[in-house]
Amino acid sequence: MNRRHFQSPPTVCVIAGDDAAPEVMRPTVGMLSELVPALRFVTPLYGREAQQRYGETFPAEARAAIDSADCTLFGASGGPSRPILWYLRWGKETYVNIRPVRWYPGYRSPMLNPERIDYVIVRDNLEGMYPPREGDVAELSALSSSSSWWQAPPVDKVGAYAVRVSTDEQMRRVAEAACELALQRQAAGYPGRVTLGAKYSIQPRTDGRFRTLVKEAVSEHPGLTYQEFLIDDLARRMVAVPETLDVVVLNNEHGDILADVASGTIGGLGLSPSACYGENYAYFEPVHGSAPDLVGKDAINPTAMLLSGAMMLDYLGYGEQARRIERALVQVYEDGTILTSDQGGSASTTAFVEAVKRQLVVVGA
Ligand code: NAD
Ligand code: IPM
Ligand code: MN
Repeated sequence: MNRRHFQSPPTVCVIAGDDAAPEVMRPTVGMLSELVPALRFVTPLYGREAQQRYGETFPAEARAAIDSADCTLFGASGGPSRPILWYLRWGKETYVNIRPVRWYPGYRSPMLNPERIDYVIVRDNLEGMYPPREGDVAELSALSSSSSWWQAPPVDKVGAYAVRVSTDEQMRRVAEAACELALQRQAAGYPGRVTLGAKYSIQPRTDGRFRTLVKEAVSEHPGLTYQEFLIDDLARRMVAVPETLDVVVLNNEHGDILADVASGTIGGLGLSPSACYGENYAYFEPVHGSAPDLVGKDAINPTAMLLSGAMMLDYLGYGEQARRIERALVQVYEDGTILTSDQGGSASTTAFVEAVKRQLVVVGA
């Protein structure tokens, strides 16, 4: 998606993030460097170290490193690196977030017949309830007399509001990205079905408009089919009939929440990668957060980070190496003897990574 010309050598900015995230980033960068020696990784200072050196957690040098790289590999923010995440999204206008949901044998799914689960969430990465725009409810008094709201807000009470903004331009390009992905998947044997989940019944101007625009976008691709569900019903379907899903397009907040639900159906957050694309930039991050409860335990599952690295290799044109990572992981999970504790095993992060590296040799060049 949105391939462009990359530098030679392709340059990746690495922001490991907070808490336990560096514990999955370190082995991921190690593995990517071994697989594609041509890649150049730059690791600017950020967070506490940058605070000490430059007096700020996101110094200009880190921003420049992101800007001059072909893309960024991001771990997860537990707070301190949040401004960097904000920059990667809004500063670099990475408008769409692709979150594959696929079960592989050995993943510790709580579902019956988890082999049915193989779809992709396409999430608006910029608008909706993000970025946060909140204020005192009293500030709405200027709007409440003239607005067409069904019920005026209680401006005489103490309380707060949050604003959702959804532009046609953004909703259209997210819809188009979903269609493109559905077409790509269709070429590989998937049904070419785009599913919209939204609250169009209650938010006709925002989710209702999203529904119209997604439907319109799909109709421009005669090979694709369209289905829609209210978001609450879609949440149920993700658990009850995941085999009916192919490409699922969601607004920002719904996509955030349901990606974690989807991750739960395949076996947990340790398994779910993602990629965020814009016209001129891309960054790659797992769905999970910084797992503060796992810091320093050598226990966090690196699968989601490794698969995010594989998505990055695809983007940079190293598809064969990306497949090798996937095949090696599949072997380790199929074997099932060296798994991290979230997957019912007792292996450390380090031991798991070593097992994946051994399989990389077995699955070959
Ligand atoms: P979390 O995803 O960090 O953790 C939720 C649970 O899943 C925890 O029990 C954790 O141990 C487990 N988990 C997460 N990743 C795992 C992995 N790779 N292997 C094994 N277990 C894993 O979510 P949270 O606890 O709600 O949030 C912690 C922090 O992360 C918060 O500050 C939150 O804002 C942030 N966060 C950041 C991102 C991001 O940077 N994109 C995403 C989600 C949450
Ligand atoms: C995610 C995270 C972020 C989000 C947080 C860290 C702002 O939960 O990427 O899924 O809500 O988008
Ligand atoms: Mn999230």
